[in-house]
Order: sequence, then C-alpha cells, then structure tokens
Amino acid sequence: MKITAYGVNQTETTFLQQLAQERGFELTLVKEWASAENLDLAAGSAAINSLQTGPYDEPLFAKMAALHIPLLALRNVGTDNIDFAAAKKYGIQISNVPVYSPETITEFVLMSALRLLRRSKEMDLAISAGELNPAKKMVGRQLSTQVVGVVGTGHIGYTVATLMHQIGAEVIAYDAYPRKDAPDWLHYQSSLETLLQRADVLTLHVPGLKANDHLLNAERLAMLPDDAIVINTGRGNLIDTAALINALNTGKLAGAAIDTFEFESTIEDQIQSGQAPSESHYLQLQDMPNVIMTPHIAYHSLGAVENMVKIAIDNIFSFTQDGSLINPVEG
Ligand code: NAD
Ligand code: COI
Repeated sequence: MKITAYGVNQTETTFLQQLAQERGFELTLVKEWASAENLDLAAGSAAINSLQTGPYDEPLFAKMAALHIPLLALRNVGTDNIDFAAAKKYGIQISNVPVYSPETITEFVLMSALRLLRRSKEMDLAISAGELNPAKKMVGRQLSTQVVGVVGTGHIGYTVATLMHQIGAEVIAYDAYPRKDAPDWLHYQSSLETLLQRADVLTLHVPGLKANDHLLNAERLAMLPDDAIVINTGRGNLIDTAALINALNTGKLAGAAIDTFEFESTIEDQIQSGQAPSESHYLQLQDMPNVIMTPHIAYHSLGAVENMVKIAIDNIFSFTQDGSLINPVEG
C-alpha cells in the first residue's frame, strides 16, 4: 500500500518513516501542501495524509477522484479549511485526529498567559536595549488572582480550564453546548457577552467555522475589563484583527498572544515563495511590545506530533481493511 503525506516537516518525517517501516507501507513525502497541481505525486496511493492551514478545495478533490484516491486523512483537528460540499460531490472520505494532545496546547496557553501577565516581551526588549531600570519597574500580575474566561470547553478548552483552576484562578466559561458533567468550579455564563464582561484573561478554543468569523469584534472587545489579555490558539478568523490592534493601541487591552492569525495564509504564501512577511496587520502586531506572535505552533510538541501521525495512519489502515474510519469527519 502506498500513502502520500503532504505538508510534512522534519519531525513528522521521522515518525512517518518509523511507521512505514513498522507497518510495511510505501511512503511518499511531499513538503508542500496538497493541491490539484501537485497531486500527481500521489498517483497509486490508497490515501492522502495531510496537514495544512491552506484550503482543501474542489480542484483538489476532483483530482483525487480522477486518480481514484478515496481518502483524505488529516493529521490535525481543525477542518475549517475543507470544502465539504466538493468532497461529497467527488465521493472523497475525510478523517481527522480529534484528540492528539490537548495538554500540549494547554501548556502553550499557560505559557502565553504568564508571558503576557509578567510582561516578558517588554522585559526582554528593555534588557536587550540595556534598560535595566525600566525593566526592574515593570510590575506583573499573578495568574491565580485573575478571572480566566474560556470560550469553547471541548477537548482543549476544558483542559485549559482545568489547569487554570488548578493554578487557583477563577474560571468562567461559555460554550454553545456546555458540558453536562461540568465540575462546580467551572462557572458557565449564559452568553459570550456575560463572559467578556469579567474575563481578565480571555482564551479562545472554538473552531474557525464561517459562523465564528470575527466572534471577537470591536463591540465585544470593548466589553472586556480594562487591561484584559487575549490569547488566540483557536483560529485566526475568530478575531477582527483591525479591532484588536485598535484595542491594543488605545490601551484597552494589556496584551495579546496570537498563535493563529487572521491573515495566516497570506503570510504562508509569502514564506513559501521565499519573501519576508509584509501583511500590514502582522507587521503592526509583531512590533508591539505587549503582543506575542507565534506561527501556529501551539500544537507542536514531540508527543503531540507522534500521536497526530499515528492516529492519521490508523485511520488509513482501518479504511483500507474494512472501509470504516475511526475518526470520520462530515462537515
Ligand atoms: P472541540 O470540538 O473539542 O471543542 C470546540 C468547542 O467549541 C465545542 O464544545 C463547541 O460546542 C464549541 N463552540 C463552537 N462554536 C462556538 C461558539 N460560537 N460559541 C461557543 N462555543 C462554541 O475542539 P478542540 O479539540 O477543543 O479544538 C478547538 C479548536 O482549536 C480547533 O477547532 C482548532 O481550530 C484549534 N486548534 C488549534 C491548535 C493550534 O496549534 N493552535 C491545535 C489544535 C486545535
Ligand atoms: C489543528 O490541529 O487543528 C491545528 O491547529 C494544528 C495545525 C498544525 C493545523
């Protein structure tokens, strides 16, 4: 059996090659994202294995059908970049990896919250500039005294909420479908707006579906307490970036940690073609001493990547053995 894996980095390559040897499949590795243009490389494959934030579009699914490749097995959670209608039209099945390590993303959120509350970027900049005295005067805030607002209490949001509770913070939450087994300490709010009014630390864990476009807009940002911080490891489209920049510029917000960025695909295209990122919102945020920008790497730990690769390949084996998927996705 041949499997073609797209969008692979060095860590994934190591795990994929180990699995290919252990389970005896032929592996083709492609660094670029999967697209109709490079799909000929996958001819003869039982499935495409992929991870990308760029689109899985109609031409891609049409080409898969033409090459008789019936399955797209994602190595990640998010499915917001898939044209499900096109996948259905061409009879392509899709699987994802719904849980690979909520703990990895949770630890990243904790790091982001602490970096913002203790003003670590400002501190680094001051130290690099030899300004020891200003750095000594920068006072931080204690996470355990803050109200943490978690939007979306699925696999990741709930793990974040639990850690924040263990640290001693008051945890409030909003989810369209609150957990039925919620512990006493998890204080669900009746609306997103109610949560926003109290969240000193706001962290987003909902999918980047169209319906969630600009969930955090100018009006909602204005509802946050003064000096709140915002952490986005969900998807870039959840925040109106222009409104976020305005809230930072006016001093409404004390800081932001942006792992998933609204204009991520523009930046990706520039990087892939060897250019320096020039997207203006990205440049503005990058320059702010109270904003931490990371390139969509909250997920990126060794254990998480090992799970992502293994579970995706498990789905392909299940499908080729009896036509069933362990983690089917249907849009
Ligand atoms: P999940 O499906 O387990 O949970 C999502 C929760 O969001 C659900 O409980 C759902 O009811 C809720 N929800 C959806 N829309 C909502 C809305 N408008 N208002 C309130 N609640 C809403 O997903 P998860 O595993 O926790 O992952 C969440 C997201 O995190 C993924 O969709 C993905 O976009 C993102 N993610 C990012 C990284 C990263 O590296 N930055 C890694 C993995 C996942
Ligand atoms: C996800 O698993 O959905 C992520 O956001 C990780 C990313 C590498 C696509």
